[in-house]
Amino acid sequence: MDKFIIKGGRRLTGEVIISGAKNAAVAILPAVILSDEPCVIENVPSISDVNISIRILKEMGAGVEYLGNCTYRIDPTTIDKFCVPYETARKMRASYYFLGALLGKFKKARVSMPGGCPLGDRPIDQHLKAFTALGSEYNLSQGMIDLKAEKLEGNQIFFDVVTVGATMNAMLAAVRAEGLTVIENAAKEPHIVDLANFLNAMGANIIGAGTDVIKIKGVDHLHGTTYSVIPDQIEAGTFMVAVAATKGDVLIKNVIPKHLESITKKLEKIGVNIQQFDDSVRVWVDGPLVKTNVKTAPHPGFPTDMQSQIATLLTLAEGTSIITENIWEQRFRYVDELRRMGADITVNGKVALIEGKGKLMGAPVKACDLRAGAALIIAGLAASGVTEIEDIFHIERGYDCMEGKLRALGADIEKVSVPDSQSKPEKQNGREAV
Ligand code: EPU
Repeated sequence: MDKFIIKGGRRLTGEVIISGAKNAAVAILPAVILSDEPCVIENVPSISDVNISIRILKEMGAGVEYLGNCTYRIDPTTIDKFCVPYETARKMRASYYFLGALLGKFKKARVSMPGGCPLGDRPIDQHLKAFTALGSEYNLSQGMIDLKAEKLEGNQIFFDVVTVGATMNAMLAAVRAEGLTVIENAAKEPHIVDLANFLNAMGANIIGAGTDVIKIKGVDHLHGTTYSVIPDQIEAGTFMVAVAATKGDVLIKNVIPKHLESITKKLEKIGVNIQQFDDSVRVWVDGPLVKTNVKTAPHPGFPTDMQSQIATLLTLAEGTSIITENIWEQRFRYVDELRRMGADITVNGKVALIEGKGKLMGAPVKACDLRAGAALIIAGLAASGVTEIEDIFHIERGYDCMEGKLRALGADIEKVSVPDSQSKPEKQNGREAV
């Protein structure tokens, strides 16, 4: 089992390049299935969730070639299996995008109930509502979801909650359906827009992505294209917070500053300086960090995927901060670990009260999910002494070479392998062999 060992207290300085967005890549890779020709996907992050998506595509019969420089060529024309088994699906939440993509292309799909970070109840009722509205039947049995349609027809889909996954799945299933689909109360995250842009680049007819009404006119055929995944908003935000926590000064490159607005605004309130350029942001701290309150919300609100990182920063600020988590009921599981490092945080339901003490102390801790792991890295970088983080496979699901990037900024962080038969991560280092 690998772990990170961090000797804290070093300022981060220099430049870092942000990788492609996990939550866009894990939808765009299955979306290639919808094409009638090969596609080339660039700026794909090297993370284990991508490795799993690639493995699933190959197991279905797709031709997959890694062209170097974060680029894959994927030929979906040889796909002859329509099933994502439990062994692969359980490892990542985003395996549910294979439902929408397979249904949209082949009118049938069989996918195991998805896994992913343990964030509380993660229902898929809205996904099923969308598939049903388009004309599919579904059957849930023995942990498998089966979809089948004679034909798919456009329809109106109103989501009862704002959901990223179901919005993307509805788009995947609707692009080749007959007629017009209107998705209302759609999610607006940057990766929704990125998926729509990719589908349109293949010849789809989607307008309104990024607003709460998305209109899709079905087309008969989608052609091959070359497409570059957007930069990862959350990886960028995580580095912004890490720089702030170490009172550093870093130019964060390959970002879309507009996607970082809610994070930027909060950090500025806390006392962090941020200068925006076309595709980079400079982040530095030259004064005290001060308390603030944060409420998570769907885009353009403050992202839940940045909640644990900003909470960590607020333990280093002066005063009492309040965090309200509105998306996932179990997103405070990192708090026990931060307490081991000296943080004073009280959680009551979806609200956490943070008494900023200005410092943290190194300790052995465990990552309980992806963003919790990112928060512990930030804590370790800012803390005095040594922090050892276990279960880093969670972190490697979504961060491309986190420790290498941090080391290049001056952090003292090392990944060490500890023999342990209990380790169960997907292949973490480098690309999935193709
Ligand atoms: N929801 C339902 N029914 C559904 C789907 C969702 O009630 O059918 C509820 C959920 O329980 C939750 C809310 O709607 O309370 C939002 O869930 P959403 O569907 O938006 O989440 P998701 O698609 O499962 C994606 C990201 C998460 C991120 C959330 C929110 C991917 C692969 N995952 O999850 O990312 O937290 O959107 O932005 O895109 C992460 O990257 O660390 C991560 C967990």
